[in-house]
Amino acid sequence: MLLPLIILALSARSAAEAAAMQPSEMCLRRCGDVEIPYPFGVGSGCHLETGDWTFVLSCNRSADGRLRVYNYEIEVVDVSVRRGQLRIYSAINPWCYNGSTSAMNGQSNWWYDMSITNFRINDALNRFTVIGCNSLAYILSPNGTAGADRYMTGCMAMCPGAGRLEKENGSCAGVGCCQTAIPAGLNGYQVSFEEKFNTSAIAGFSRCSYAVLVEASAFDFRASYVTTDEFMASNGGQLPLVLDWAIGNNTCEEAKRNASAYACVSANSECVESRYGRGRGYLCNCSAGYDGNPYLLDGCQDINECDESRFRYPCSVPGTCVNTPGGFTCTCPDKTIGNAYNGTCGDNKSQLGWKIAIGISSGVVILIVTASCVYMIHAKRRLAKIKREHFRQHGGLLLFEEMKSRQGLSFALFTQEELEQATNRFDERNVIGKGGNGTVYRGTIAKDNGAVVAIKRCRLATERQKKEFGKEMLILSQINHRNIVKLYGCCLEVEVPMLVYKYIPNGTLYRLIHGGEGGASARRIPFAARVRIAHQAAEALAYLHSWASPPIIHGDVKTSNILLDEDYAAKVSDFGASTLAPADAAQFVTFVQGTCGYLDPEYMRTCRLTDKSDVYSFGVVLLELLTCRKALNLEELEEEKYLSSQFLLAVGEGRLGEILDPQIKGEQSMEVIEQVAELAKQCLEISGEKRPSMREVAEELDRLGKLSLHPWGQPNSGELAALLGGSPSMAADSDQIELSTSTRNISFSDTAYIGIRSPR
Ligand SMILES: *[C@@H]1O[C@H](CO)[C@@H](O)[C@H](O)[C@H]1NC(C)=O
Ligand SMILES: *[C@@H]1O[C@H](CO)[C@@H](O)[C@H](O)[C@H]1NC(C)=O
Ligand SMILES: *[C@@H]1O[C@H](CO)[C@@H](O)[C@H](O)[C@H]1NC(C)=O
Ligand SMILES: *[C@@H]1O[C@H](CO)[C@@H](O)[C@H](O)[C@H]1NC(C)=O
Ligand SMILES: *[C@@H]1O[C@H](CO)[C@@H](O)[C@H](O)[C@H]1NC(C)=O
Ligand SMILES: *[C@@H]1O[C@H](CO)[C@@H](O)[C@H](O)[C@H]1NC(C)=O
Ligand SMILES: *[C@@H]1O[C@H](CO)[C@@H](O)[C@H](O)[C@H]1NC(C)=O
Ligand SMILES: *[C@@H]1O[C@H](CO)[C@@H](O)[C@H](O)[C@H]1NC(C)=O
Ligand SMILES: *[C@@H]1O[C@H](CO)[C@@H](O)[C@H](O)[C@H]1NC(C)=O
Repeated sequence: MLLPLIILALSARSAAEAAAMQPSEMCLRRCGDVEIPYPFGVGSGCHLETGDWTFVLSCNRSADGRLRVYNYEIEVVDVSVRRGQLRIYSAINPWCYNGSTSAMNGQSNWWYDMSITNFRINDALNRFTVIGCNSLAYILSPNGTAGADRYMTGCMAMCPGAGRLEKENGSCAGVGCCQTAIPAGLNGYQVSFEEKFNTSAIAGFSRCSYAVLVEASAFDFRASYVTTDEFMASNGGQLPLVLDWAIGNNTCEEAKRNASAYACVSANSECVESRYGRGRGYLCNCSAGYDGNPYLLDGCQDINECDESRFRYPCSVPGTCVNTPGGFTCTCPDKTIGNAYNGTCGDNKSQLGWKIAIGISSGVVILIVTASCVYMIHAKRRLAKIKREHFRQHGGLLLFEEMKSRQGLSFALFTQEELEQATNRFDERNVIGKGGNGTVYRGTIAKDNGAVVAIKRCRLATERQKKEFGKEMLILSQINHRNIVKLYGCCLEVEVPMLVYKYIPNGTLYRLIHGGEGGASARRIPFAARVRIAHQAAEALAYLHSWASPPIIHGDVKTSNILLDEDYAAKVSDFGASTLAPADAAQFVTFVQGTCGYLDPEYMRTCRLTDKSDVYSFGVVLLELLTCRKALNLEELEEEKYLSSQFLLAVGEGRLGEILDPQIKGEQSMEVIEQVAELAKQCLEISGEKRPSMREVAEELDRLGKLSLHPWGQPNSGELAALLGGSPSMAADSDQIELSTSTRNISFSDTAYIGIRSPR
């Protein structure tokens, strides 16, 4: 009896360990023009932790207002997971004659040191390049390198016949320019010029020489580089340089032994040794036939080789390609034989007899078809009449007229066939949710270019449910708010009307907080994101409350009625319980709706639904966000059953810290968390009058959202913008200086370098 339990516990643990290595979906994956694929990432938890700086990136706004990516202090141009490469900017080193001081300027101790990372300078793609007419420059191991790791090489650029220079456009081959290869496996270098060669005598023709380690394909020599300042000016003082990266310092075989640290986690991925040999780390790659990111669970996806829009058609016989996991097959069509890969498919002789039989039987079939067509036309006419009847019953025409009279609202009427086709005849596999008053299907509307929608349909057609559908339709067709789920249209010609919404892909807030049914674990949600989602939902409710007089009351605010779109922005949904607040106090609702755990106690007592009932329910939503506990816990003791009473009890006894989600405690200052908790407490006031209005709640959450610290400890306008889904409110950060500007203004008397600042 005990054994299965132990196995269960063990497997749960290893799954948790593997999941722990995975970055949150909310990590920044793009900064300016640069894609940031995992294992790289901005902020802890977003990149692979190897104990060094290799995968640590930051996204900074430079003085010119552009977002740029840095690894430590090196600016990154792009990242390739497939090739295991990173392109960075390498500084051009100038060496110029200064007429006013009659001296050479620029002999500097420029150096790159990447020994704190697992980067190596790619020796196949980069070249040490020197430009000038009387110049010898060296590339050597950084100052301080000891023993066998030391190296030095150089290159000399001369212009024996100045007239030849013009002919040398494009080729760096010894006249005004020279290039040399570098040793493999370097992770740092320094550049220096030989003092014996200078441009003092030829300053009128060629004042400066330059040396740079650069990606060969990114450099094109021009004669004007020798005679003018164009080289430095046109490239902003920097050119790309290719680095190779790898994981760790062990071989594939060693890495696989420690499963918890092994980085190739995707199914269908494999380990590749670093090209620098044993002990220089490993890389991951998707297996043949798969493509994607091998460092993510399920990152490697099958390639559809049959997709002609992406690949050359792989089979010799058109229309015979079938995609399989990791490959494809070319199968001759039915009743033919041959080789569809590289040959042809031909008729199978034995099929000839069949053809004759088919010829005879098809005559019979035509007869039957004609007969049944006549019958079907008849039946269809009858069906159409019934549909028209339903349409009329639901006030369809009236509603349609009403819609037409309201300008600016896009609202479509769908036929039953269209919705059946969209959901594959309401196939169980398309069900995305089941609620108290209907089943929601995912569907694809063919006439709207395959727009993905959610279709809500009632299982039973009681008078009450029909009424709720009508109410939801009326309310949703009139309001248009970015945090309220959008109604596309409806279908009125069936007994129970169906509603068609825009499809919201990221599930409900309930699922985000508590995890899915299939055992999917709840994700780490940064505090700032929680406040943002709460703020958006509050905005939506405030809008509802203020939109009309008397106000529209949602009536069933809960985390499973708050959906999350592709950017994790909140969309309030399910208006089945909504109502217009009775203008006359004598009009009471006759039955209590809503969900246990969220219900306003005052409403239960008085049977009167007010906008403050939504505020109460919203307070419970805030609590769920703060505590990650469910609104109703039937397993708990009486007073602990309801999250609201559990919370009020804890606050009353000064035990707020105990019931908070441990995740946010470390991430956020207690002061801000307490303010959110205080807001929730006000929403849960027993007397509706004492609760703040939804507008006040939204404003307070807006303020707290701005206060709440950056999720990774330090505010950074770029990340925050991406996280909060808005435009950065902060101005360009003046302390984060653009690299190219700093190189252009460099003062050569100072020791300047990119890499580590030397101890002074
Ligand atoms: C990964 O595989 C692809 C195709 O199979 C190949 O082109 C690429 O070079 C491989 N990458 C590495 C780092 O081996
Ligand atoms: C020449 O050197 C002086 C003194 O260091 C400096 O002020 C001046 O800007 C330099 N000129 C050029 C063209 O670099
Ligand atoms: C340039 O080099 C020549 C020959 O080596 C030397 O005599 C002269 O002093 C140098 N000039 C400067 C400015 O370094
Ligand atoms: C190496 O660096 C040290 C300290 O930065 C400096 O004193 C020394 O001159 C440098 N040596 C060379 C050869 O650049
Ligand atoms: C070299 O390139 C420059 C700039 O593209 C151009 O102006 C010049 O005419 C070219 N010279 C030759 C000889 O092609
Ligand atoms: C490999 O890396 C680990 C941790 O970064 C380090 O402790 C170890 O000394 C390294 N081994 C070698 C052979 O470099
Ligand atoms: C396996 O990797 C983890 C995480 O890097 C490390 O803490 C642990 O010590 C490693 N185990 C072994 C046996 O090397
Ligand atoms: C054609 O395909 C068959 C089976 O895949 C293979 O044995 C044969 O070598 C191929 N012929 C050519 C010319 O590619
Ligand atoms: C970018 O910002 C990070 C912190 O956000 C800082 O540590 C880093 O030094 C900055 N890099 C540059 C080049 O300004």
